[in-house]
Amino acid sequence: MKKVKIAILGMGTVGGGTYDILTKNIDIIMKRVGIDYEISAILERRMEVIDAHGADHALVTQDIDSILDGDTDIIVECLGGIDFPVSIMKRALENGIGVVTPNKAAVAANYDLLREAAEKGGAELRFEAAVGGGIPILTTITDQLAQNNFTEILGILNGTTNYILTKMTKEGEDYETALKEAQAKGFAEPDPTADVEGIDTANKLCILMTLAMDHYVNPRTIPTTGITGVTPEDIEAAKERDSVIKLIAKAENVDGNITYEVKPTEIPMSHPLAEVSNEFNAIYLNGDAVGELMFYGKGAGALPTGSALVADILAIMKDIAK
Ligand code: HSE
Repeated sequence: MKKVKIAILGMGTVGGGTYDILTKNIDIIMKRVGIDYEISAILERRMEVIDAHGADHALVTQDIDSILDGDTDIIVECLGGIDFPVSIMKRALENGIGVVTPNKAAVAANYDLLREAAEKGGAELRFEAAVGGGIPILTTITDQLAQNNFTEILGILNGTTNYILTKMTKEGEDYETALKEAQAKGFAEPDPTADVEGIDTANKLCILMTLAMDHYVNPRTIPTTGITGVTPEDIEAAKERDSVIKLIAKAENVDGNITYEVKPTEIPMSHPLAEVSNEFNAIYLNGDAVGELMFYGKGAGALPTGSALVADILAIMKDIAK
């Protein structure tokens, strides 16, 4: 049987986590999925991150053309940014190469363009890792829950801001210290403005609404307030009301009228979302057939996000094998 060739573009936190899972867990993956694969190329300039993961220098290239025009079956896009990765993903999809990505900003802003490229090239585009880190929420919505009309989505979708708010609430840490910790742990975006201003959460809500409510809106049109205005006094006042402040993404569908927003919200301690702490994310859904559901797990970090990327890689590998 053919060996599936996987190229990793970018060995940062998430690309590195994906590499680690694909190499360390190869035996269990092979046993369960029964398809042989290899990492055939790594697009990366920083040799120190290659060495940190013990990767073979012979796999490293700076030549994207050799990856996209060669015999690559799947690319793992972990480059960050929007324009360059979108151009790479579009070209790969049009060339019939499967694409997996955690890049919510790129997918949310270019959803139609990427879907059209996938259709044109007969290739798969998967982005499970873009929402909820390791929580398999998107595939669950599109596969197991496709028969539902969703009336409500409520989520804590950003690990960095949830980490900061948790540290400020439970340990009285100041905002700057908590943000630095979240950056050091690899949760934050390269420019954490996207996290703390709620932009990352809006990108994720855009993707959730598109899949669960068949309603795409440009993420820039989602009314969005981040956590930079949340003060220790706000947190103390919420505590006095037996509540906690969380950055909440919300979408509602009332008889076809869909409303949505991202903002810091007081959540009563009796609500299950109040206990979602640190980098954990949670997504609450209400479907007309299934009723209420809640999903919980690590929303950021190398291995949880890498786990979702590898799940997408395996899904494409299975389709290639068919
Ligand atoms: N910066 C993001 C977060 C990473 O903190 O949730 C995962 O999408």
